[in-house]
Amino acid sequence: MLPLRELTHRSERSSKLPPVIFALSTSQEIALATMGGIFIVFSVISAFVLPTKSPNFPGKHMPIYLVLCVVLFLAMMATVLVFGKEKKEAEGEPAVAAATASTGDAANGKTVFTANGCGACHVLADADAAGAVGPNLDETKSAADVIVDRVTNGKGTMPAFAGKLTDEQIQDVAAYIASVA
Ligand code: HEC
Repeated sequence: MLPLRELTHRSERSSKLPPVIFALSTSQEIALATMGGIFIVFSVISAFVLPTKSPNFPGKHMPIYLVLCVVLFLAMMATVLVFGKEKKEAEGEPAVAAATASTGDAANGKTVFTANGCGACHVLADADAAGAVGPNLDETKSAADVIVDRVTNGKGTMPAFAGKLTDEQIQDVAAYIASVA
C-alpha cells in the first residue's frame, strides 16, 4: 500500500472531490473517504472508460481483474473495520460516564439496606436477606426510580423512610438493589 498522504493526493486528483475530503476533520474520516474514493474511481474506470477503449474488456485479463476486485473489496472492508471502530469507541465513553453519574453509590447502598431492617421484610440474595413480609426484590427487579419512590413514600405495610434516611442514602440503596437484583 502507498503511504496515506500519497493515496489522498491521488484520489483528489482523479476523483475531483477535494472539497468533500477537506471538509472531513479527523484522520479516520480522511482514510475512509480516500478508500471510498479509490473504490469509486476503480468502478467508474472499469464500467465506462476501459470498455470504451476495448469493447472486449476485461477479456483475457479476467482473472487479474477479478483478483483486483476482491483485493479492493477487502481493503475497503478492512478500512471500515479499523477506522470505523476507533471512532465508535471514542464516542461511547462519555455515554457510559453519564449513566454511572446519575445513579447512587451501590456499595454504600448495601450498608443502608442491612442497617435499616429491609432484610426483615424482603428477600435479596446479595444481602443474605430472606424476609417474607414484602415482595422478593430479586424477583420484582424494579427500576431505580421506582425503588426510590417506594422507599421514600412507603406503601401499605412498607414503611416510608423519608424522615429516617437522607435522599442520598435512598438513592444509594436504590442503586444497590437495582444492580444486584
Ligand atoms: C415492615 C416490612 C418492610 C420493611 C422493613 C421494608 N419493606 Fe419494602 N416493602 C414491604 C412491603 C409489604 C412492600 C409491598 C408494598 C406494596 O406494593 O403494597 C414493600 C415494597 C418494597 C419495594 C417495591 C417492590 C416493587 O417493585 O414492587 C421496594 C423496592 C422495597 N420495598 C424496598 C425496601 C427497602 C430498601 C427497605 C429498607 C430501607 C424496605 N423495603 C423495608 C415491606 C417492608
